Amino acid sequence: MNLTPISLKLTRIMQTLLPPRRLLLILLIIAFVVIGCNNGEKADDGSTILVFKHGKIAGDPEEFIKLLKKFENENPGIKVRDETLPASTDEQHQFYVINLEGKSSDFDVMSMDVIWVPEFAKAGWIRDLSHLPDEEEKKDFFPGPMKAVTYGGRLYAIPWYIDAGILYYRKDLLGKYGFSPPETWDELVKISLYIMKREKEIYGFLWQGKQYEGLVCNVLEYFWGNGGDVLRSGEVVIDGKENIYALKFMRDLIVKYKISPPLVTTAIEEPTRHLFGNGKAVFMRNWPYAWNIFEKEGSPVKGKVGVALLPSFIEGYSASTLGGWQLGVNRYSRHPGEAEKLIKFLSQPESQKTLALTIGYKPSRKSLYDDAELKRAQPFVASLYEVFMKARPRPVTPYYVMITQVMQPEFSAAISGIKTPEQALESASKQIKHILKAEE
Ligand code: GLC
Repeated sequence: MNLTPISLKLTRIMQTLLPPRRLLLILLIIAFVVIGCNNGEKADDGSTILVFKHGKIAGDPEEFIKLLKKFENENPGIKVRDETLPASTDEQHQFYVINLEGKSSDFDVMSMDVIWVPEFAKAGWIRDLSHLPDEEEKKDFFPGPMKAVTYGGRLYAIPWYIDAGILYYRKDLLGKYGFSPPETWDELVKISLYIMKREKEIYGFLWQGKQYEGLVCNVLEYFWGNGGDVLRSGEVVIDGKENIYALKFMRDLIVKYKISPPLVTTAIEEPTRHLFGNGKAVFMRNWPYAWNIFEKEGSPVKGKVGVALLPSFIEGYSASTLGGWQLGVNRYSRHPGEAEKLIKFLSQPESQKTLALTIGYKPSRKSLYDDAELKRAQPFVASLYEVFMKARPRPVTPYYVMITQVMQPEFSAAISGIKTPEQALESASKQIKHILKAEE
């Protein structure tokens, strides 16, 4: 243990105040606490302990733990301690910013949202991983996440699993009343109203409307589905009339059509997944992970759920927000070599396939969408290939988090009726222009 000058001073003061045996005991306790907190710690058998931080696993994490055990068996001398962060991406981001700003070496491998990599790379918080995948492998990853992990021509993370917004619907109920999945938002409203009238205690449409990153993912899908956007060729176009219409429609889902309950304004992914999974709604917008959970033995909606592209306002404009998580190495890690080994292992085709089959994380490698076993087990996976190819990224810039922190409260104010969509978008536009100008 290294004693700092302060620790030495303290020791001297205590020496004059305490009998030697009690002093020894206190010093032993302090040493235990200091060593215990120190990264670079070894397991009992002398193995290196690699700390892997990731968001909460939706569903049963058992298979994930098995996969980490497999890595340990294949890599004697490395033990993985997986540490779970909250499910919300915003809270995870906050954790990383605080700790990386403080140059923390308490974790080695980190799972990063697709929107963070340029920011973290610019700040110098993550290691360059350009050498990890070979050229052939690089071509196999979906283009959206590859773009998101590239900064200044270098690769700062490896795409781990991919996400895109999709529409879940009750196949049994749509079939019972003779409907096909809706292609426009108006159709979704009509079908919801029709079924809500005839089925007891069922919501029409659930989505994520809490003031957080998920709300931005939802809102952008309506903007794009109406021909709108946030930035166009570097210009801020967020207050365009297509977006005003789209945001107003989202508020109408709650107050005019009443097909979405007011609870959506405080909901993130999991509460909506629980409600839909308990048979309480006709439609839900969510990420693909939910499907595996709906199909589990004992699930009230097993065999009753269909998946479709999100509706749009204009025919052919259906758009999904690109999501997903990437693996990177903390710049301050004391075990970068071991960290790279874990990243290689978790992102290899075999591990991605296991995660797809067990916890529903969709592979970031295109070739797996041709895998016969995966297709047999999850027929809908193959249909997601096109969705992932076309999924639209949120603005790819190191300033994205600043931009989203402007959008989140403004969007939330509009869907909760605190501001009109015009007021909210005008205010967002002013603030985003300000950010971009300041960062020029
Ligand atoms: C999912 C997506 C992520 C997105 C988040 C929003 O985790 O993968 O990209 O930011 O949801 O809640």
